[in-house]
Amino acid sequence: MDKSSHSNPEEAVVKHLDWILSIDFDENVIQAEATYTVEVVKANAGKICLDTSGLRIHSIRGTDGLPLDYILYPKNLKKPHLGQLLEVKLTGLGAVSSTEKVSIRYATTKESTALQWLPPSQTAGKVYPFLFTQCQAIHARALLPCQDRCGVKMTYSARVTVPKWATCVMSAVLNATEEGDDRKVYTWNQPIPISSYLIAIAVGDLAKRDISTRCAVWSEPSLIEASEYEFAETEQFLKTAEDISGMKYVWGRYDLLCLPPSFPFGGMENPCMTFVTPTLLAGDRSLADVVAHEIAHSWTGNLVTNATWDHFWLNEGWTMWFQRKIMARVKKNHKFLDFDAIDGRKHMMDAIEEMTPGNTRLVLDIGDEDPDDSYSSIAYEKGFTLLLYLERLVGSIDFEAFFKAYVSRFSSRILTSDEFKEFFMSYFENKKEVIVQIDWYAWLHRAGLPPVLPELDTSMSCDSQNLASLWLAVDRQGTAPPSTNDIALWSSLQITCFLDDLLLKTGGIPLKVTTLGAMNDLYKLALTRNAEVLYRYCELAIAAEDVSILPTVTRFITTQGRMKFTRPLYRALHKSLMGRDLAVSTFLAHKDFYHPICVKMVAQDLKVSGKVETKPAINISLATGVAAAAAVVAVVVLRIRK
Ligand code: BES
Ligand code: ZN
Repeated sequence: MDKSSHSNPEEAVVKHLDWILSIDFDENVIQAEATYTVEVVKANAGKICLDTSGLRIHSIRGTDGLPLDYILYPKNLKKPHLGQLLEVKLTGLGAVSSTEKVSIRYATTKESTALQWLPPSQTAGKVYPFLFTQCQAIHARALLPCQDRCGVKMTYSARVTVPKWATCVMSAVLNATEEGDDRKVYTWNQPIPISSYLIAIAVGDLAKRDISTRCAVWSEPSLIEASEYEFAETEQFLKTAEDISGMKYVWGRYDLLCLPPSFPFGGMENPCMTFVTPTLLAGDRSLADVVAHEIAHSWTGNLVTNATWDHFWLNEGWTMWFQRKIMARVKKNHKFLDFDAIDGRKHMMDAIEEMTPGNTRLVLDIGDEDPDDSYSSIAYEKGFTLLLYLERLVGSIDFEAFFKAYVSRFSSRILTSDEFKEFFMSYFENKKEVIVQIDWYAWLHRAGLPPVLPELDTSMSCDSQNLASLWLAVDRQGTAPPSTNDIALWSSLQITCFLDDLLLKTGGIPLKVTTLGAMNDLYKLALTRNAEVLYRYCELAIAAEDVSILPTVTRFITTQGRMKFTRPLYRALHKSLMGRDLAVSTFLAHKDFYHPICVKMVAQDLKVSGKVETKPAINISLATGVAAAAAVVAVVVLRIRK
C-alpha cells in the first residue's frame, strides 16, 4: 500500500520505458513520447493507472498504433502534490504475464515541479540556458506519466534531441550521439530496473573530465577544473564502497554532474550520474563526503530500496552508515566515524525539536500527505543511530558481514522496516541473548529521542569543544579572546564541530555582537569559501542580532538554493527582530531563482505565497460513447466529493 501514488501495479505494471524527448529551450518545454511495456499482473486487469502532474497529454496509442481510451482525472486540490491520475484502458487479452505497449505523447508545462529551466543569467557561463530534473520523492510524475512509487522498478531507454550547443546527461549509460545541422541526438540505456524517482536528465553547456576509466565529472566549462580537483577521490570512494558492500558496482559508469547553484540538494544519487550542488566546491575536498554518500546509495537505495517513503530511513540511515564507513576507511582512521556522527547527532536533536512529533518517528506515516513535508534529518541520523546501536550490540565484524548479506539479499528489491527487522533477527539468531534486548517498537515507532544513544568517541572533537568553551567564557565571563588563529590548520569538520558546539553551549541565549566581532576578526569566518562553515557562522550571528551579518546572509541565500542552508537561514532571519521583513522581501524578490521545491518549502516556512496555482487541466479522450459517459460520471463524482 503506497498512498503517495495512484498507480495499480498489483493489476498491471510497467516493466520498461522507451522514451523520446525533445528539449525546447525557446518555450521551456519538453515534448515527449513515452512508450511503456505493460505487463498484466491480475488477469483481465483492463487498465493501467499512471501518475501525472502538470503534464499536457496529447494522445495515447496501443500496440497496434490505434488510439486507446483514457481518463485524466482532475487533481484533488486538497492534495495537489499527488497530481492527476491517468487511467488508460488496455486492449490486450489480459492473460497474466502477457505484455502490451502503451504510447503516450505529452508535453511538460510550467507547473512541472520536477524541472528547473534556468535562464542564461542563472548559469556560470551566462550564455546558454540550462535544464535539470529532480524527481525524488514524488516528482517523477511531473516529468513523465509513470507508476510513481518505489515498488515499481523498470528499465528504460531514451532518445533525446537537444540544441547543437548543448550536452545532455541522464541517469543511464550513453549509447551514442548523432549530430544534425542544428540539433544533437543522444541515446541512453538503463538496463537495471530502477524506481521512478531515479529518472533524471540535465541539459546545458557542459564540459567533462575523466577521473578514472568509469568515473568522470561534468560541469559548466568555467567550473570544470574546480570540479575535477574537488571530486578527484571519487574512484577511491567507489572502490572502498565495493569492498565494504562485498558487491561490485553494477551501474557501469559513475559520473558526477556539478549543477548550477539553485540545485536544491547537496547531492542526488541518480544512477550512473550523481547530481551535486556547486556549494561542495570548497577548494580543499573537505565536503567530498557528500560524494561518498551518493556513491553509497548505489547499493543502499538504488539496489536495496525502501518499500515506500514511510521507510525512507532504510535508504538514508543505511547510506549515512555506509558513507561514514567509507570515509573512515579512506581516512584510515576508525575514529572518524564517531567524529562525523557527533555532527549528525546534533542535527538529529535539532530535528526532534523542530519537527512535529509524528515526523520524528523512524517509520513515518505519510499517508496522502506530501513527502516533502516530512523530510528531515530523522531518517538520516535516527536511522544511523539505530544501525550504530545494532553494530555495537553484535560487534563490528559481524555487523559488517551482516551488511554484505543484507545488500545481497535485497538487491534489486524493495523492503519495509519490518522485513529489515526480521532479516536482522534471523541473521543473528545465534546471538539470541544479545538481540532480545532490542526494543524494536521504540526504535521504529516511538516519536522523539531514540531509546538508546550509543556513546561517541570524542577524541577527535575535543579541541573543537575546548575552543567552544573558551569562546563561551569570553562571551559570558568577559575573559580575553584567544590571540592566535588556532583554527587556521584545522579541517573544516573541526571548525563546523566548534561552531555547532558553541551554538549548543549558548543554550538558546545568543552570543554578544562584540564576541562575534572578535571571533570574525580573528578567523574571518564571514569570508570563508566553505558553505558548511559559513552557514553555521550565519546561524550564530543571526541569533545574536548582529546586523553586520545581513549582507553576507542575503548574498549567501540568494546565490545558492541548497535547502539545507537556505531554509534554516530564511527561518532564522524571519524569527529575528532585525531580519523579519528582510526575509520575506528577499524571498519574494528571488523566488524565480529557486527551484520549485525550494520555493514551496520556503513559502511554507515564511507563511507567504509560493507560486500562483493555475486550474488543473481536465482532459478526456475516448473512442467509445459508453466509456465517455463513464468518464463524465467519474469527473462529476470527483467534483461532488470535493
Ligand atoms: N537522496 C538524497 C536527496 C533527497 C532526499 C532528495 C529526499 C529528495 C528527497 C541524497 O542522497 C541526500 O541525502 N543528500 C544529502 C547529502 C548528505 C546527507 C551527505 C543532501 O542533499 O544534503
Ligand atoms: Zn541520501
